[in-house]
Order: sequence, then structure tokens, then C-alpha cells
Amino acid sequence: MSAFPHRHLLGIEGLTPPEVTALLDRSESYVEQNRRADKKKSVLRGRTVINLFFEASTRTRTSFELAGKRLGGDVINMSVSTSAIRKGETVLDTAMTLNAMHPDVLVVRHPESGAVKLLSEKVNCCVINAGDGSHEHPTQALLDALTIRRRLGRLEGLEVAICGDIVHSRVARSNIHLLAIMGARVRLVAPHTLIPAEAERLGVEVFHDMHEGLKGCDIVMMLRLQTERMQGNFLPSIREYFHFFGLDYDKMANAKPEALIMHPGPMNRGVEIDSVVADDYSRSVIHEQVEMGVAVRMACLELLSANLVEAPQHNI
Ligand code: CP
Repeated sequence: MSAFPHRHLLGIEGLTPPEVTALLDRSESYVEQNRRADKKKSVLRGRTVINLFFEASTRTRTSFELAGKRLGGDVINMSVSTSAIRKGETVLDTAMTLNAMHPDVLVVRHPESGAVKLLSEKVNCCVINAGDGSHEHPTQALLDALTIRRRLGRLEGLEVAICGDIVHSRVARSNIHLLAIMGARVRLVAPHTLIPAEAERLGVEVFHDMHEGLKGCDIVMMLRLQTERMQGNFLPSIREYFHFFGLDYDKMANAKPEALIMHPGPMNRGVEIDSVVADDYSRSVIHEQVEMGVAVRMACLELLSANLVEAPQHNI
């Protein structure tokens, strides 16, 4: 029986604590390997991974590419801007075209929530959701959890404040699910306009004051304003937003003295986080999150590929 008995990784919602733990434990084994001069393994030898990103990315796309290559797989980065999508081909036709070339894993990012799941129903290979709209970004939540677990030794019982543009954030949704599965408590801290309507149903506490929301917390996770997903006015001004919701030392003083500062990136310095705080490596683990991203994506590629039967079935 596989430690992660799923064909795809489309989200964190619905995973069990042992499944999350299995992914984190496997990721842990890759952290040291990635710090060695020789980073190569042959776990994915003969396997093909295609990165299919319909939205911009630095961290996720690069780390999936590194992860696949370090495991000995063949990795293709499909550039959407120079693909047949520019000639009117649909996302599903593109996916099925790639599928006909027998990839083993498709890593997909798409601006629409649910698009990656739809695509996964049309292909034979494994699909990993690299972020779909404001829905889920499962590997981000896993790398955040690995970072926290390595620093604080556990997830259970921690108080985690997720602050900023929650309503548009797939990172927030995946983290809310993962932290709940693993027994941490989540607070959302944001103006009313940036809190999703379903917040109460998610089993979190909601705060509209940063000083209150950060009191006694172990983790302060800051989020970028996702202006590309905003239709209409959500805030009076950036200046006012930074004053009330930007993370600085004054607001951080409410958290536990050893509390960690996290941010999935990309950061907008002076908007949701003060530059000095972001670069304070005694508290900020932002670069460590990026490092853990490669290890987590190696574990995901390995565990999902291990579930593949030797020859893909032609069922479409
Ligand atoms: N955190 C994250 O998803 O970053 P990228 O958009 O650079 O991949």
C-alpha cells in the first residue's frame, strides 16, 4: 500500500494526517540531499514531467523543474505564450495533446479555480495542482508545513495567523486545510473586504485588527495583495493598508518572542510587509520556505510516480 495512495495531488482538502505526514517525511529526506554537491538521484529515470503554467511563476515552476531533474526525470517546460493556445487551442485540447505524448506527470497552474481538476479528468498521467485561481496551492502549504515543522518541531497546537488578502489566496486555503488536518489553530487577519464569506465554515478565528490577531501567535504568515484577481475597489489606499495591516516590528511585538515570519512570495515590500522585517533572518524564514519547496516537490513527484502502472492505459 502506497504512503500516498492518490493518482493526483489537486488539493490539501480531503487528505488525511498520515498522508500529509508521509509527504512531509519524504520531503525531509530530500532536504539534506539538496544541500550536497551531488544532488542527483535516479528515482524518476525514464519518467517525463511537463510543467504547464498558464500563469506567471518563479518559485513553483523553477522548483518543480529542479525537483524533476534532481530525481533523474526528463522535464519539459511548456511556454504557454509560444504554444498553440495562442492560435485558439483550448486548455483541455492542449492537455490531451500533451497526454498523447505519454508524460508521467503534468504540473499545472491556471488562473481559474477548478481548471486543474477538470484537466486531470481528461488525461492518463498524474496531475499536480501548482495553483488554480483562488482555490488551492497544495505544494505551497506542504512546504510551509515542512518549514514550520523543521523550525518548531511540530504543527499540532500551534497558533498560526494568516494575514492579508485571504479572499483571493489559494495559499491561504491550502494552508487552512493543512493546518486544521494537522491540529494547528488558524486565525485570519484582514480588512472585512479581504475575508472570504465562508471563513466561519472553515473553522478559523477572524480578526480585523493586526495587534489583536497576532497576540501570542507562533507563526505570522503574510500574503500579497493579489491585484490581478481584484475586480473593483477592495481598499481605500495602499498607504492606509500598510499602516493598518502591513507587518512591522510594532505589530510583530504582539506575537510570541520566538514567532516566525513567513511569506509565500512574491513579496510586495512596503505594502503587506516592511522590508526590514522581511529581511530579519532571526525571525523571517522566507528563504527557507523557498528551499523547502524543492524538497517537497521532489517528494510529490516521487510518491505520485510510484503509483503509476508501468504502461499508461489509453482510456480517453
Ligand atoms: N509562492 C508561489 O507560488 O510563488 P510563484 O508564483 O513564484 O510560483
